[in-house]
Amino acid sequence: DSSHKWLSSVFNELRLEGKFTDAVLKVEEVEFPVHKVILCNCTPYFRAFFTRWANLEKTVFRISGLSPDTMRLILDYVYAGSLSVTENNVQELLIAADQFNILEVVHVCCSFLIEMLRPNNCIGIWNFTTVCLHAELRSKAFSFILEHFEEVVSCDEFLLLSVEELTDIIEKDSLIAQKESTVFEAILKWIAHSPKERERHFFALLIKVRMALLDVEYIRNTVLTNALVQKNKKCLSFIDAATKIIHQMDTFRAPLFHHSNPIARPRLPRAILLAIGGWSGGDPTNGIEAYDIRANRWTNVTTELERPRAYHGAAFLNGYVYCVGGFDRVEHFNSVRRFNPVTHTWQEVAPMYCRRCYVSVTVLNGCIYAMGGFDGHLRLNTAEYFRPEINQWSFIAPMHEQRSDASCTAFQNKVYICGGFNGQECLQTAEYYSPETDQWTTITSMNSQRSGIGVIAYAGHVYAVGGFDGNNRQHSVEAYDPLTDSWENVASMITPRSNFGIEVIEDRLFVVGGFNGFTTTYNVEYYNAATNEWCMARDMEIFRSAVSCCVISGLPNMAEYAVTYNFLPLSEEEEMESSSSS
Ligand SMILES: *[C@@H]1O[C@H](CO)[C@@H](O)[C@H](O)[C@H]1NC(C)=O
Repeated sequence: DSSHKWLSSVFNELRLEGKFTDAVLKVEEVEFPVHKVILCNCTPYFRAFFTRWANLEKTVFRISGLSPDTMRLILDYVYAGSLSVTENNVQELLIAADQFNILEVVHVCCSFLIEMLRPNNCIGIWNFTTVCLHAELRSKAFSFILEHFEEVVSCDEFLLLSVEELTDIIEKDSLIAQKESTVFEAILKWIAHSPKERERHFFALLIKVRMALLDVEYIRNTVLTNALVQKNKKCLSFIDAATKIIHQMDTFRAPLFHHSNPIARPRLPRAILLAIGGWSGGDPTNGIEAYDIRANRWTNVTTELERPRAYHGAAFLNGYVYCVGGFDRVEHFNSVRRFNPVTHTWQEVAPMYCRRCYVSVTVLNGCIYAMGGFDGHLRLNTAEYFRPEINQWSFIAPMHEQRSDASCTAFQNKVYICGGFNGQECLQTAEYYSPETDQWTTITSMNSQRSGIGVIAYAGHVYAVGGFDGNNRQHSVEAYDPLTDSWENVASMITPRSNFGIEVIEDRLFVVGGFNGFTTTYNVEYYNAATNEWCMARDMEIFRSAVSCCVISGLPNMAEYAVTYNFLPLSEEEEMESSSSS
């Protein structure tokens, strides 16, 4: 702030010694001698304040609305620019700084409160902004509540919400709850805290639950058996209507045309799966699609200006999506570009030492690791890692094998890499890298040779999925247990595939696109370790192989990547279903 020059320490010494002061600020019973001109220099508030009293012989000015401790902090700032904000003083300091219109202090306090947001204090901080209105702090606190709703519900402050506040929270699309039942149970908990006053709000709250997103079992066993529900006819008919919609959605398998219905509208997912680039119809593509797991739907979020890339690696780190290496038919890339999903812009960062197409990429401890690949001449055993804070790649120890078209994952502070192609054969071997020792260690080989494999950490294991064994595309899947150093086959995919995208989102392992032995596919399926089953998910719009996936989360604009919020014309199939159901 150029208008405010820090004063020499002499002024502060004079103040503390009480020399040449011409006014006394009296807060409760404590007197603070000050120099009027110095306070006027700091904020227009004091200029107006002292000017108003200028004609009187007044020297002692009573200041109310703050404690002597806070006045001391304010004066330390005014005279010396020093500010020590703590959890205990921040709220009072913010109110005082607001009263005196000292914008820098207001700003520091708001930032401090934003940093301080936790599930157990976010409601308190949000409430505080009704006393002391700051748009940014208010919206940050509210977003925090919505994002951490599952944890917030079990904190004491939750029970003290007013009915209006609770309604405000649970009606939002951007409330994040893995299960809608969390919302229903939150309402019961809130009412149980003070049933006499709160029971009358039950119906108004209940209709904010996206009842048609609950499963029928839960409605039957938990909702309909609830005493509050049972004694209220309106509740019963609301639930009845929801159940009808659930049956319709099951029958027509296309929930989309119900998205406009408030009780069937999916909420925002915590994370979004991106499928980036790849090889489609004989050409590399720059296509990016975003998968919303709640709506089971892909959205095209391609940025037209980006150059196509296939056989690359993708990773999400510190808010950026990195695309590492790859190939566009002409060039084997050593370049690395990152996408900012908030601004929708691309930026080039430092290139790798090696050109790497068919590269394996993962994130560990805030760094990106890129292993193996093909530089246009050789299959590589070299590996390097990228530190974003210094924008630099460095070599790490080379792997035991040349691995092109392998796949890797970070797991238990190590990087595991499995399979691939060494120029002669599809590999069955696997190894891990330990950053502490900068060493690669070979582990038990997989049960199959797998090139164009997908590897991912999931459910306490390293999964090795699909790939090409030299003859066929595989649908087999095996899981590695580091405790026993052994691989065990689990349920096979529905579709055999190689060169697909792989990611875990909401405890499901997704495989995306790839080559099935005959054709490039847009088909997507997911595995649930709890049931050891694969199920089909919604197809992508772009069929592609050599695609890379990553999961993005924690963005202020997640909604842009979710389906619910975008205008989506119905597909022909849904159009038919929708008209046949009405
Ligand atoms: C996706 O969006 C891009 C950019 O708007 C467009 O060029 C492309 O045709 C779209 N792809 C599909 C499959 O709709």
